[in-house]
Amino acid sequence: MSVDIFENLLNKPSIFKDERKLDINFIPDTLPHRNKELSLLSQLFLTLLTNPNEISRKVLVTGRTGIGKTVTVKFFGNLLVKAAKKKDISISYIHVNCRKERTSYKVMIKIIRSINKSFPKRGYSPQDLLEIIDDFLNTHNLHILIILDELNYLINNDNDLIYSLTRLNDDSYNVPQRISLIGIVRDVSCINNLDNSTLSTLQRNIIRFENYTNEQIFDILKYRAEISFKKNVLSDELIEMISDIVSLNGDIRYGLNLLWKAGKIAENKNLKLISSECIRLANQDMVPFSTLDILKDMTSQKLIFLLATILHLKTNNENRITFLEILKPYLILCENAGLRPRSYSQLWNYLQEYKKEKLIYVKLQSKSIRGRKALIEIPDIPLLKFERIVRDILNSKGVKI
Ligand SMILES: Nc1ncnc2c1ncn2[C@@H]1O[C@H](COP(=O)(O)OP(=O)(O)OP(=O)(O)O)[C@@H](O)[C@H]1O
Ligand SMILES: [Mg+2]
Repeated sequence: MSVDIFENLLNKPSIFKDERKLDINFIPDTLPHRNKELSLLSQLFLTLLTNPNEISRKVLVTGRTGIGKTVTVKFFGNLLVKAAKKKDISISYIHVNCRKERTSYKVMIKIIRSINKSFPKRGYSPQDLLEIIDDFLNTHNLHILIILDELNYLINNDNDLIYSLTRLNDDSYNVPQRISLIGIVRDVSCINNLDNSTLSTLQRNIIRFENYTNEQIFDILKYRAEISFKKNVLSDELIEMISDIVSLNGDIRYGLNLLWKAGKIAENKNLKLISSECIRLANQDMVPFSTLDILKDMTSQKLIFLLATILHLKTNNENRITFLEILKPYLILCENAGLRPRSYSQLWNYLQEYKKEKLIYVKLQSKSIRGRKALIEIPDIPLLKFERIVRDILNSKGVKI
């Protein structure tokens, strides 16, 4: 029986071209909208190629969560190693996540084992390890770029290592400089806890990653979708819908998870492409959405207009509708419920309130000379579920539709 399940799954055509490319640790071939940061890094580290082992660089990268700090720095590490190889210079880069390796000892072991795999795990002090690394680099004529990611975890735990790494060989004249550093932190203020000399070293070169704009989020997700899904599986309109959700907090990681989940839901439903409902379901699956309280406090009239919006989106299977399109189903619902319809301006206010309450998104689209058109969408909740909830609440308020 279970063999058949696997057989069926294996024979089922997939909508994914390569789902591993949606993995958050995957490093893609290009990084849209991070060229500026990559070229800044390249300028700072150029000296490692022009004057090998004469200078060591220490750089701090900062910026909000999920905006590509880790992926950009890793991508840069690969570029640097490749460029060095072409010039017959030995450079390695080592990525250490300080949230996982929370002590100097663990960080040092991680570094040394990445350049010397057979190194024993125990029996040395961090200071010993530093010397061993230094010796190893000298005998192998190697320069290493250490990326200390989520460095803030180490700053509060163990400042000595950061001090040692940033100051290593700084006091010696004419000695090869073989260790460079890139520290990554979300909030730059955390480095204020460091001693003055380390602080001044790190503050000399800070690269601030800006948040992505809505359009940039769209481009990035479109690119990641293109390399992961088969052709025509996901429309631009739906990528825009996902971008709208992601832009609420700007974390691309959330967008990648949403793409993957929506793809899996579509496959489960035996669909050949991803629908807006798949995205709603995936999104709902990911965040607990506490709309219930907001809905319970709404007046019946406001609930009816919301229900009309949901019904129109659902029955027409559209992703976006206009204000005017909601009026017809709204008038029918009012008639069924025996309620007097509200004025246009009151209904328009309802829409603005839904928007504030994050129940709907309103997109303004420029339309010729006649001005702008408001397009309404509901990406957060599956429409069927949303309809049921609103109907139940209306019922509990004694409104029969
Ligand atoms: N410009 C981009 N192009 C393609 N993918 C991107 C881009 N920016 C970010 N990503 C992807 O988004 C996800 C989050 O990026 P990353 O892990 O680099 O964030 P971060 O800034 O390090 O966040 P945190 O502070 O939470 O560690 C990764 O899977 C990454 O591959
Ligand atoms: Mg990161």
